[in-house]
Amino acid sequence: MTTAVPFFAPDLFESDRGATLELIHRIGTGAQQKFILGDSVAALEDRIAEHTGAAHVVACASGTGALSLAVHALDVGPGDEVVVPAYCCQPVASCVVDRGATPVFVDIDPATLVLDPAAVEAAITPRTVALLPAHVFSVMADMPAMRAIADRHGLRVVEDAAVAQGAELDGVPAGRWGDVGVFSFFQVKALGTAGEGGVVLTDDDELGRRARMLRNHGQARRFVHEYVGHNNRMDEINAEFLLHRFDRFTERLARRADIAARYTERFAPLRDHGLVPPPAGLDGRCYYVYCVLTDRRDELRAHLADRGIGTHVYYPLPLPAQPAFARWGRGQRFPNAEAAGRRNLALPIWPHLRDEQVERIIAAVEEFHGVG
Ligand SMILES: Cc1ncc(COP(=O)(O)O)c(C=O)c1O
Repeated sequence: MTTAVPFFAPDLFESDRGATLELIHRIGTGAQQKFILGDSVAALEDRIAEHTGAAHVVACASGTGALSLAVHALDVGPGDEVVVPAYCCQPVASCVVDRGATPVFVDIDPATLVLDPAAVEAAITPRTVALLPAHVFSVMADMPAMRAIADRHGLRVVEDAAVAQGAELDGVPAGRWGDVGVFSFFQVKALGTAGEGGVVLTDDDELGRRARMLRNHGQARRFVHEYVGHNNRMDEINAEFLLHRFDRFTERLARRADIAARYTERFAPLRDHGLVPPPAGLDGRCYYVYCVLTDRRDELRAHLADRGIGTHVYYPLPLPAQPAFARWGRGQRFPNAEAAGRRNLALPIWPHLRDEQVERIIAAVEEFHGVG
């Protein structure tokens, strides 16, 4: 009897057990008794600044929180429009709505599932102030195109690199293409903490200064509130856990890319059977999640489940079709986003997946297509 391969690995933190217990005890009993925004948070910010080359790194409560800080720091407000993907995680739209501004949904490229540059350009109006491209699953958004469009129209770029920490496109790290970028440290992300966390990255001194104050009730000095801010802070335990995890980050990213390369190579012949693997390679790829596209998505999912293999359906409904965002969808159709919602299936790609488990997943996908 072979054991199941769940989509979300229950032993994600097993190898971190000793370090986790030690760091919780160390912080809990530390002389300073400081549990948020202390030395560990500052050390994590320094480590990420060193890793990415960003002048300012502001650690906060989550990727969603980081997007909120980025959009707020840019002073986006009522009357402003921000171009966001129609097919993505909801915070790309809620961070704009929260500022009283308008998210303008734009369709995605049908193969890469990231913002379609031509559709972005067509959506720009005199009210547009920023573009908010997101990297999704294993593909970075077309940042050279986004940068060029933004520069042509005098717009700012908020780069949602929540899922792409450690990736590079044309030698530029994810999170560094935008005027401001964000990472998420939610447990299943590439670095991943045992809880929530995020960072804002920027070279812009004013954006960095504002984001830093906004995350802590708009204050630089205690009880002096320059802005109406948020409680959007990172705690010391998560920061220390992330510092611990940084040591094996490159190795874990490489293992993810290795698994993805094996999937992509073995799935290539299945194109003739209607299964589309994501774009191959390493440039502009992040392998946070490995998604295939197929019209027989639900059948394939059931076939894999029967064989003990867990999968996940990301975003069955595009954002403008969600009740919360329908009013900004303005009844428009987003055919590529809708198709992705019907066809997208994510396979397990956690870094401690064993080779025989990868083989088992590949064999089950081949078997479904009568190949192998
Ligand atoms: C593209 C994208 N942006 C933002 C987020 C939000 O990150 P968090 O879960 O840390 O709030 C996610 C989460 O998965 C995401 O996929």
